Amino acid sequence: MKVLYACSEIYPLLKTGGLADVSAALPLALQHSGCDVRVLLPGFPAIFAGIKNLDASSEAALNLPRGYGPELPAGAVAKIVRAELPNGLVCYVLDAPACFDRPGSPYLNPDGQAWPDNAQRFALLSWAAACLGQGLDALWPPDILHCHDWHTGLGPLYLSLPQGSEGVRAASVFTIHNLAYQGLFPAEVFSTLGLADHLFGIDGVEFYNQVSFMKAGLQFADRITTVSPSYAREILTHEQGSGLEGVLCSRSAVLSGILNGVDYLVWNPAHDAVLKQTFDWRSLGRKKHAKTQLQTFMGLQLRPDALVLGVVSRLTEQKGLHLLAAILEDVVSQGAQLALIGGGDPTIEQAFTDAAKKHPGQVAVRIGYDESLAHSIIAGADVIVVPSRFEPCGLTQLYGLRYGTLPLVRRIGGLADTVVDASPEHLLDGTACGVVFDDFSVDGLKAALQRTQSLYAQPAAWKAVQKRAMQLRFDWRVAAEQYLALYTSLKPDAA
Ligand code: ADP
Ligand code: GLC
Repeated sequence: MKVLYACSEIYPLLKTGGLADVSAALPLALQHSGCDVRVLLPGFPAIFAGIKNLDASSEAALNLPRGYGPELPAGAVAKIVRAELPNGLVCYVLDAPACFDRPGSPYLNPDGQAWPDNAQRFALLSWAAACLGQGLDALWPPDILHCHDWHTGLGPLYLSLPQGSEGVRAASVFTIHNLAYQGLFPAEVFSTLGLADHLFGIDGVEFYNQVSFMKAGLQFADRITTVSPSYAREILTHEQGSGLEGVLCSRSAVLSGILNGVDYLVWNPAHDAVLKQTFDWRSLGRKKHAKTQLQTFMGLQLRPDALVLGVVSRLTEQKGLHLLAAILEDVVSQGAQLALIGGGDPTIEQAFTDAAKKHPGQVAVRIGYDESLAHSIIAGADVIVVPSRFEPCGLTQLYGLRYGTLPLVRRIGGLADTVVDASPEHLLDGTACGVVFDDFSVDGLKAALQRTQSLYAQPAAWKAVQKRAMQLRFDWRVAAEQYLALYTSLKPDAA
């Protein structure tokens, strides 16, 4: 089964969120499950800097067909070059400097605004994916084109367009990682996409008189997946469907949820390079050193008994962290501490920065992105707080579990699918691995924190839940088998 995996970011080369973690781990897990996987990426500077064995010779490059497809900026060139990822997989890099030779975020300019030509940039990425899906690389025509999020949403649509000759054509799978980011562009953009007029309609890419790249993926992919079973159900509703619930309901027969996994080579307390002293569930007593390391590094009071709450997150409306900001006085008055790394919405950033100024030694906040501090927090905190309004899967609660850092989460999306509440019943039957609450409100979170404190005050019970959490596994192998079954249902002969 030959699978072309098309995405816009990949850890450790370029990452803005969980999408990059998935792009690094899932293709490799698919390869281990017997697929032949290649990854298509846009040629950002960070991608070129991180790949190996680049064959940039003009004979080796694949030129995109001209005369149709999306418009390129005047004078721009676009070709696909082959190389290797740090994990050994073959990758195709879309080399189009006018579109991608820009440092920093893949989506935003240095002022934090979306690049004005994002529609053209990501239409080109989708076009490249579709061309490969139609056999542009004659030596490697894929059976499956697997596109991820709106950045590659036009891929299944371009792939479905009639070809000059009845040649090879991959089947398409589109995975929603976050329905809230839809790739919406003004109607004028449509004429630059190289699509027939009728496609700017209700059965095409039109969404309230705008162009929606996400909708293109949903309408034209042969199969749609999202990253947890609960989120797959939730997005069929008005509350969680972001306006696309109608489209999703009409395609519900081909929609399914496949839970993400964890790369335990990257997230593992037994050999985490960030830790001065590693630990595992059999040596749980050593986790206290990770806590001291974190408290020292972040300038928190060195109190081994203090409940340390950790946050590693984008600070956006989705993540519900304004609820945490609103109860920080309680957190502090109960003697607990907060260690946070995050960035995003300036108002939420400010709320946490102000709290850190007001409560030095008890609230420590770093605004920005820092991979090694993320590991320190996940390892050294007692609790990882994820009170999301919605959460397609969520990875930090899974990382927390592996480190015995108990997740305090809302019962939604992938959080609901992965964390079992420490209710009396689940404490008794040994399945509890965190604290789960329902009510998305300040009081809801406050009550959940109260329950967390009570559990923490019973060291034997806390330790039992930690041990349970640390032994749980969310292996990518399991997800890969489910994707493979999906691919096989589309291309039985390729299995
Ligand atoms: P999302 O993709 O919605 O942001 P996930 O929980 O799926 O949420 O994944 C977030 C990923 O990004 C995790 O690997 C997490 O450790 C990382 N991350 C988020 N914010 C930061 C940050 N400020 N610094 C370092 N890593 C971060
Ligand atoms: C998105 C979601 C997150 C998910 C990640 C990886 O960014 O917000 O819940 O874990 O994608 O699939």
